[in-house]
Amino acid sequence: MASPPTILVFDSGLGGLSVLREIVGARPDAHYVYVADDAFFPYGHHGEHQIIARVVPLIGELIAAHAPDLVVIACNTASTLVMAHLRAEYKVSFVGTVPAIKPACASSKTKRVSVLGTRGTVKREYTKALIRDFAQGCEVTLVGSAQLASLAEAALNGVEVNDLKISAELAPCFVGEGKNDLARTDTIVLACTHYPLLMDRFSRLAPWPVDWIDPAPAIARRVADLLKAPGGEADHAGAEMIFTSGRPHTLSRALMPFFGGRVPA
Ligand code: DGL
Repeated sequence: MASPPTILVFDSGLGGLSVLREIVGARPDAHYVYVADDAFFPYGHHGEHQIIARVVPLIGELIAAHAPDLVVIACNTASTLVMAHLRAEYKVSFVGTVPAIKPACASSKTKRVSVLGTRGTVKREYTKALIRDFAQGCEVTLVGSAQLASLAEAALNGVEVNDLKISAELAPCFVGEGKNDLARTDTIVLACTHYPLLMDRFSRLAPWPVDWIDPAPAIARRVADLLKAPGGEADHAGAEMIFTSGRPHTLSRALMPFFGGRVPA
C-alpha cells in the first residue's frame, strides 16, 4: 500500500493556515509539515531581493530535512517572486498562492474589484501583469495593507484587536458612493493568506456586502490534482508545526481545526 504523501506548507507566519485548512480537507490522509518563517515576519515589509535571498535557500533546507512530495508556498508576498527560482532549483512539485484576480474580475457584476494584499504584493510586477491580462474590463483598485497580517497574527494568538484598526485598513477597498451606487466595488480579492483568518470581522465591518475571493479552495484542488490518489493508508506520524525562530508554540489547541483536528507537535 502506498504510504501517505508529505505536504510542506510554508508562509511567513500563521496566514498559510487558511490554505492548510483547505488542503487538509482535500487530503486528510497526508502527512503535514507547516513552517512559519516568523524569524523574518512580516514579508510585506521586506524588499524583493531580500525575500528571494531568504526563501529560496530556506526552502532547500526544508526539502532536505523533511523530504516532502509537494511544497505549497502559502504566501502571496513570496509566491509573486520566488516560484520560478524554486522550480529551477529543486525537483519537488510546487504550488504557489497568487492574487485571484482572474476569477474575481470574471464574477464582478459592477466591474469594480479591489485587491487587498501586503504592500509588497500590490507593488509587484507579477500582480500588475495579472491585472493587464485578466481585468476583463474591470476597474481594479490595489490596496496595500501595512498592518492586517500582524493584526491577524495577534487575533489568532488571542490578543484583542480593535475593530477600528481593521476598518481603517479595509476602507480603501470600498470604492463608490455607498449601498445605492450601482457601480460600487462588489468583489474583493484576499491577496494575503492571513486575511481569511479575519473573515468574520471583515464581513461584519464591511460598509456594504461584497464577495470576498479566497484562493484556498482552488489551491487545495491543485494540490489534490498533483498528488497520486490516496492509497488507503492515512498518516499516523502527526502533523508538525515549525517556527523558524525556534520558539516553542503554545497555540496547539487553537491550531487544531486547521490541521483537521490533529494536535500539531
Ligand atoms: N501571508 C503572507 C501573504 O500571503 C504575508 C504576510 C507578511 O508576512 O507580510 O502575502
